[in-house]
Amino acid sequence: MVSEHQTTFDETIAADEKIEPRDWMPDAYRNTLIRQIAQHAHSEVIGMQPEGNWITRAPTLLRKAILIAKVQDEAGHGLYLYSAAETLGVSRDELQEMLHSGRHKYSSIFNYPTLSWADIGVIGWLVDGAAIVNQIMLQGASYGPYARAMVRICKEESFHARQGYAILMTLAKGTDEQRQMLQDAVDRWWWPALMMFGPHDSESTHTEQSMDWKIKRMSNDDLRQLYVDQTVPQGEYLGITFPDPDLHFDEESGHWRFGEIDWDEFWAVVTGDGPMNRERVAHKKKAWEDGAWVREAATAYAVKHAAETAKVA
Ligand code: 3HC
Repeated sequence: MVSEHQTTFDETIAADEKIEPRDWMPDAYRNTLIRQIAQHAHSEVIGMQPEGNWITRAPTLLRKAILIAKVQDEAGHGLYLYSAAETLGVSRDELQEMLHSGRHKYSSIFNYPTLSWADIGVIGWLVDGAAIVNQIMLQGASYGPYARAMVRICKEESFHARQGYAILMTLAKGTDEQRQMLQDAVDRWWWPALMMFGPHDSESTHTEQSMDWKIKRMSNDDLRQLYVDQTVPQGEYLGITFPDPDLHFDEESGHWRFGEIDWDEFWAVVTGDGPMNRERVAHKKKAWEDGAWVREAATAYAVKHAAETAKVA
């Protein structure tokens, strides 16, 4: 016998309306959202490391200022998303522990090193570009706080992608050495960017259920294809080539067809054995530990302030 709660939940999803924090929801829906939103937040925070690595080495003061603004945005995205996750009844400390212990993931893309300034441009163009494709879709997610966080984040992501592409336009019009630096970065980041969209739909653990619940509105493979179709022409404009001999435009379908992802590499990186996984998590843990005194001071102040306010009232 389907409960009244379940019926109301199903009708809300079917009507394309939002589930809000105080609404009844199946535990499995809640847990899938905690998993995805928390890992999304973890990705934003860990994602500050690869780009942060170049703040002190930006080629001009203007580029340094832009990169600082972008990295700061990513921290803010993480905070929005942790706040959205907290509406589901989980604490930020619990989520940090899940990340630090390896029980929560973060996006595979952030486990690759940033070897040159061109990487910073390619991350803006390819990585934030992939995030935009995914996050525009998530603006339609059935869980209200998540969908609304995406609206704000997508506005800032477009600045991230534009600033990255502007860096690459400079390099593409520069010296042979700058053009080679650009091509080398594309060669290293193209396939990891395609991996951001997850395994094939046929291999995906969560896609079918997440689409039934309208958390996901498009599948991993459909989003990946949308991304490739919009990105390849941008690369052609830059004068770069993509490291995929199978990449070609299919007139009949109107899509860019591309080669097979190295799924052994994907799962190795996802399960912790990528080029930078250990460094990324160790750095994150140290930052959390180093920041403990700030959290303690802020909590102590809040308790003292509340006590003084209560006395006055
Ligand atoms: N990296 C790490 N883990 C991945 C992954 C990736 N690229 N792709 C899939 N996985 C994991 C999933 O988390 C899942 O593991 P879990 O059950 O332990 O969580 C498993 O592989 C199976 O994958 P599924 O496709 O079944 O999982 P999902 O339905 O959750 O789809 C997803 C994966 C497409 C990443 C989805 O979770 C999603 O859309 N998440 C929100 C967006 C997000 O997290 N983006 C990360 C980048 S954020 C970013 O780029 C910030 C920007 O400002 C630069």
